[in-house]
Amino acid sequence: MSATRMLSVLCAAALFGAPIAAADSSAARVKEIPAFGLGTWLSERDEVAHAVEYALQNGYNHIDAARIYRNEDKTGRGIAASGVGRESIWVTSKLWNYDHRDAEAHAAIRKSIEDLGVDQLDLYLIHWPVAFVPGEGTKLDKKTSLVDTWRTMEDLVRAGLTRHIGVSNFAKRDVEAILDICTICPYAHEFETHPYLQQQDFVDWHREVGIKVIAYSPLANTNPIYHRGLPSILEDPFWEKLAEAKNATVAQTILAWGLARDTVVIPKSSSEKHLDANLGALDIKFTDEELKEVAKQDKKVRMSNPGKNWGVKLFIDLDDPSTESSNSNEEL
Ligand SMILES: NC(=O)c1ccc[n+]([C@@H]2O[C@H](COP(=O)([O-])OP(=O)(O)OC[C@H]3O[C@@H](n4cnc5c(N)ncnc54)[C@H](OP(=O)(O)O)[C@@H]3O)[C@@H](O)[C@H]2O)c1
Repeated sequence: MSATRMLSVLCAAALFGAPIAAADSSAARVKEIPAFGLGTWLSERDEVAHAVEYALQNGYNHIDAARIYRNEDKTGRGIAASGVGRESIWVTSKLWNYDHRDAEAHAAIRKSIEDLGVDQLDLYLIHWPVAFVPGEGTKLDKKTSLVDTWRTMEDLVRAGLTRHIGVSNFAKRDVEAILDICTICPYAHEFETHPYLQQQDFVDWHREVGIKVIAYSPLANTNPIYHRGLPSILEDPFWEKLAEAKNATVAQTILAWGLARDTVVIPKSSSEKHLDANLGALDIKFTDEELKEVAKQDKKVRMSNPGKNWGVKLFIDLDDPSTESSNSNEEL
């Protein structure tokens, strides 16, 4: 890692905690979520282990996993093969919809821990604010409320299975319902946000209430299952021009903007070239004028909304144009 890159990682550490291992192991534990992580959704089972191993050996220290990605065992192999100490890696996983009940949640987190090959998780998220009846497909579980599930999540912390808990894909009112009752409160909220779905007010509100924002799909519609009808953001003339001015790639510039607004970014890649290049985002800064121009580029386009498949209205009071071309995440 270059000296400039190391300095940038340390600057990000000042914002988000310490992502870099120090010599003393007790001091080295990753205390807060690192600002830059590796996504693993749609990472092929025969590619993800190498991607994780390569990433951890080349500057990454944060892996975003989930049981529903069906690759946590291979992700765990990558973590082990990297040779990087557990104390230097932040590992997030997520509770799937059919595991919201108490017994299922305990079994699910234990399975994720086993597959990922770790002692405990750093962060465990309720993947969606939707509970299915266990063993009955996508039949909605009307008996298990989000508050019930949150109390179960708190038990997982008390049992030492995860250091922190959080939510994902929640509407503001769902987060507020948790804040009203929590004794261990949400550490982070992972949701879709990128230049085409900025949701700045929602991001700002999380800062006010002390919940970190993890920006998923930080490269907007670069994920190939998204918005086949919308031109790739990587070819968007606004971003091409801004990237040129920074002497950077469009992907690096977009990720740098995610960091500049104090969100944690977790781009997925299985390519060594992209894994290396994406870290270059840590070296890019913006002027206030540039940030104002980026704010004008919000298209308010949501890429991911499986609620349509589940018969659930998600993202209440948030940007969700639910266009015909919007992807409904059949993969999940
Ligand atoms: N909580 C949730 O419900 C939720 C939902 C969606 C995503 N997530 C998390 O967020 C992560 C990231 O989101 P995402 O996977 O949807 O989208 P993304 O990270 O924004 O985009 C991933 C796509 O971009 C490509 N890519 C990466 N770097 C690139 C570069 N420098 N140049 C060109 N293409 C590049 C990747 O291909 P290559 O592999 O070929 O590089 C991949 O196809 C997921 O993997 C997952 O961990 C969470």
